[in-house]
Amino acid sequence: MKRIFEVAPWNVVTHKLDKENKRLQESLTSLGNGYMGMRGNFEEDYSGDSLPGSYLAGVWYPDKTRVGWWKNGYPEYFGKVINAVNFIKMNFLINGSKLDLYTDKISDFTLDLDMKNALLKRSFIVEKDGVKVKFNFERFLSVAQKELSVQKVSFENLSDDSVEVKVISSLDANVKNEDANYDEHFWEVLEITDNSIIAKTKPNDFGTPRFTSGMQVGYVTGLKEVDQTVDKLETSKTFVADLKAHEVGTIEKRVAVVTSRDYETIDDLRDAMEGIAAKVSGVSYEDLLNAHENVWDNRWSQSDIKIDGDTDAQQGMRFNLFGLFTTYSGEDSRLNIGPKGFTGEKYGGATYWDTEAFCIPVYLGVSQPEVSRNLLMYRYNQLKGAYINAERQGLKGALYPMVTFNGIECHNEWEITFEEIHRNGDIAFAIYNYTRYTGDKSFVLHEGSKMLTEMSRFWADRVHYSKRNEQYMIHGVTGPDEYENNVDNNWYTNFLARWTLKYTLQILGEVSKDQFEKLNVSKEEMDHWQDIVDKMYLPYDEDLGIFVQHDGFLDKDIQPVSSIPKDQLPINQHWSWDKILRSPYIKQGDVLQGIWDFIDDFSEREKKRNFDFYEPLTVHESSLSPAIHSVLAADLHYDQKAVALYERTARLDLDNYNNDTADGLHITSMTGGWLAMVQGFAGMRVHDDGTLSYKPFLPKKWNSYSFRQVFRGRVIEVAVKENGSEFKLVSGDPLQIQVNDKPLMLK
Ligand code: BGC
Repeated sequence: MKRIFEVAPWNVVTHKLDKENKRLQESLTSLGNGYMGMRGNFEEDYSGDSLPGSYLAGVWYPDKTRVGWWKNGYPEYFGKVINAVNFIKMNFLINGSKLDLYTDKISDFTLDLDMKNALLKRSFIVEKDGVKVKFNFERFLSVAQKELSVQKVSFENLSDDSVEVKVISSLDANVKNEDANYDEHFWEVLEITDNSIIAKTKPNDFGTPRFTSGMQVGYVTGLKEVDQTVDKLETSKTFVADLKAHEVGTIEKRVAVVTSRDYETIDDLRDAMEGIAAKVSGVSYEDLLNAHENVWDNRWSQSDIKIDGDTDAQQGMRFNLFGLFTTYSGEDSRLNIGPKGFTGEKYGGATYWDTEAFCIPVYLGVSQPEVSRNLLMYRYNQLKGAYINAERQGLKGALYPMVTFNGIECHNEWEITFEEIHRNGDIAFAIYNYTRYTGDKSFVLHEGSKMLTEMSRFWADRVHYSKRNEQYMIHGVTGPDEYENNVDNNWYTNFLARWTLKYTLQILGEVSKDQFEKLNVSKEEMDHWQDIVDKMYLPYDEDLGIFVQHDGFLDKDIQPVSSIPKDQLPINQHWSWDKILRSPYIKQGDVLQGIWDFIDDFSEREKKRNFDFYEPLTVHESSLSPAIHSVLAADLHYDQKAVALYERTARLDLDNYNNDTADGLHITSMTGGWLAMVQGFAGMRVHDDGTLSYKPFLPKKWNSYSFRQVFRGRVIEVAVKENGSEFKLVSGDPLQIQVNDKPLMLK
């Protein structure tokens, strides 16, 4: 655990420029508005270690796969959201000498991410060649005008002599991805003027779309413009301030950022960026900021969670929600939620099963149903790609990818992309989960039924019948626990495959005649699916009374995680890969992931036996792991364990638990805090008949907690205090809920 920011309820703030942990500081001060986002990089060049990163949602490039030894079936490219043209760049010369916080002498440093207003502030005093200047930076990515980035910098001469400060502000297309397979530049500049750049992603050999992005900059400043340079990749303007003693200079930079995702032709794109730049040029900084803050205010009033008595937990929870809201706001069904959002390069900004398994359950509770529906529509719109994946494996139907931008698998780790097929069940589960939570059947009866049918076709072809056992089996898979590959009969995968077939059959019985005909499912096909449902093999151990993670799991040398010497944790940073594969250690919930999905379908005894067996073997080395275990622990009344796992999930990045936050934040696991609190501590469940119920408890070290939840056209406020819980209907129609198995009418 490494904590480099102070604990504060609404801010992520530090007074130390941590050069050793610069990347970590950058990750933790990332900003985003769903449309674009960036790491907390400095405006000016920094000669120390840093990971530059600004990203535009949905703007990606197919980076040709690089492997030592090619295997048939490997995806040809790894799709990645690429580093955008650097539009925040501003360098400063103080009496001709360049500001560089890595080498300069500085004092009074503050770096402050204000989560309430999604505003990043930085200030410091620099002493250079006998003069002192105090700098203040502010920036935000507007949520009121999503194509707008706003920066404001002021500098005060603290010396008695006059000082010349030059500001060289640029749009710079000379950017790369650190993880580019062939160290290439992905952008080609099409047009460059004294205040704009239009750049297009390079041609590619894979037939994937090219993207164009346009940026136009405008300034509001009293400083004198003295120079401008326009070269092939960068356009800059230089401003100068001759500051007398204690005089202040200020410059505001506003950049309109548009892409070909919204504007088809270059002319439309140019018009759009000019239009936005012109529209905001007459608006004051305060008004732009106010409009942005109002939207954030609204968001927080719908979904803030208050924890009284534990500022660590409070900060962690808000940081989680902030991470989610800055990444995905749900208006655009062409977008999804990359595991690192806009905060780093790892995972390429692509879509993973994380969205359906971990994000949808939270978005259902904190936003209107359209947001989750859009996430499902994203998959529906990518069915074509899923057919291609199945076909490439020689199988029927649709196999949704593990990593993708367009539905086609784009990651070459074979044990994940070919074998971690449980995602085809997780996506089916998300359709069910959406329908159960919202009561809206229109998706499942139309688009959803198509997806379910095609996924079922895949499962029916992927299983094989073991004559010896007279059961259906699934061999050669990877379960959610990626510390085991190529296993046979992973319980979670078999269970979800069977459940998907069962649910599909149920839905086929509910769709309209018209839709049924369109789906073109024969009686034989349905009978075969039913046969698989009836005869699917699900490994179970009678003596232990547990579901077995996969054939052979129980023959391992089973020792708890507590027997591993502390200095060998995390094992993925200390052990060889084969040692990990041989070990009994579980990266993230596997059997327990399934029990969490269907938490009310298992008996208390089943849940307890499985949790008691598997949790002690779990290293939680995926950030997605602690939250679901926290929910299960709360369900079993293991309160202390539930709280410990909550802390791990909610402060995972703030405390750098897995020692990998420098690469970027774990955005999809930022759902963990909400899940642990709402499903865990408050015991919130939505049942098949649409009833909403709670069984709340208050962690010992807290005085109280409260949250708001969106449910079927209502907003409900839940407050859990020492002397009991309160439930309030904030808006919407009256509703009867269950609290500790007793009915309660909310009016
Ligand atoms: C996890 C996967 C997850 C991926 C992206 C991996 O470490 O094991 O379950 O999909 O990260 O978050």
